[in-house]
Amino acid sequence: MKRVTIADVRRMKENGERFAALTAYDVVTARLVDEAGIPIILVGDSLGMVVLGYDSTIPVTLDAMIHHTQAVVRGTQRALVVADLPFMTYHKSAEQALDSAARCIQEGGAQAVKLEGGRPVAGTIARLTSAGIPVMGHLGLTPQSIHQLGGYKAQGKTAAQAKSLVEDALAVEEAGAFSVVLECVPAELSGLLTERLSIPTIGIGAGPHCDGEIQVVSDVLGWFSDFVPKHARRYAKLSETAAEAIRAYADDVQGGRFPTEKESVSIPADVIGQVEEAFPIEP
Ligand code: KIV
Repeated sequence: MKRVTIADVRRMKENGERFAALTAYDVVTARLVDEAGIPIILVGDSLGMVVLGYDSTIPVTLDAMIHHTQAVVRGTQRALVVADLPFMTYHKSAEQALDSAARCIQEGGAQAVKLEGGRPVAGTIARLTSAGIPVMGHLGLTPQSIHQLGGYKAQGKTAAQAKSLVEDALAVEEAGAFSVVLECVPAELSGLLTERLSIPTIGIGAGPHCDGEIQVVSDVLGWFSDFVPKHARRYAKLSETAAEAIRAYADDVQGGRFPTEKESVSIPADVIGQVEEAFPIEP
């Protein structure tokens, strides 16, 4: 099966075909997402919160990203797999970014990387793309800058901020990114950007006017019962289903209802008889 390419992603915008993208961090989920025909899977650094139990994306390491990217790639045949470059793995220099991105592609098996930021990282995007590494940009709420932004809140709400975001988006496009994620950006602004940019915009909390939409898979599947971000819609309640299954399993074990003969392997009576003879119960 042929993998989706960045040319296919560009073509979807040209043809006005809206598309869905999802995150995945493991082989089982990646297989389900791939089999559903979702063209782009992001191994997001949301890994930190969704899988590793951190309270932000900041502690996520490049090694962790590569480890999970390998699993996702093993679970996919068709989707374009994009690996997030974690915090401080591309900020120090374009050379550092090149080394980090090369590991995601070579060791991780991803077909592209994503990085956060606008004009300050445009040179880095240009360096990566000129080395043949496709880059997805990420603007608006950029979680790696959470301490600078002062919280997880919508970006680009004033005219000055919105203009600055447009400048960033133009710089990311000019630098050669093949698409750009717009996170928590007002719908009107992401609509304007979708019209102005030739590369696809992929929204999350950015309203209905983007070329594509990306969501964090745990939000869509309802893996967590305690928190649903405003921009997400739960299509299942897997945490409830899983909790029920775990309780039922524990009850069955405690009550002697699992395992039964059906879940066991047997040997003939004479075989166990020989073993009993060899190891008699001491009086
Ligand atoms: O890490 C992530 O999951 C992301 C998406 C929210 C776009 O960056």
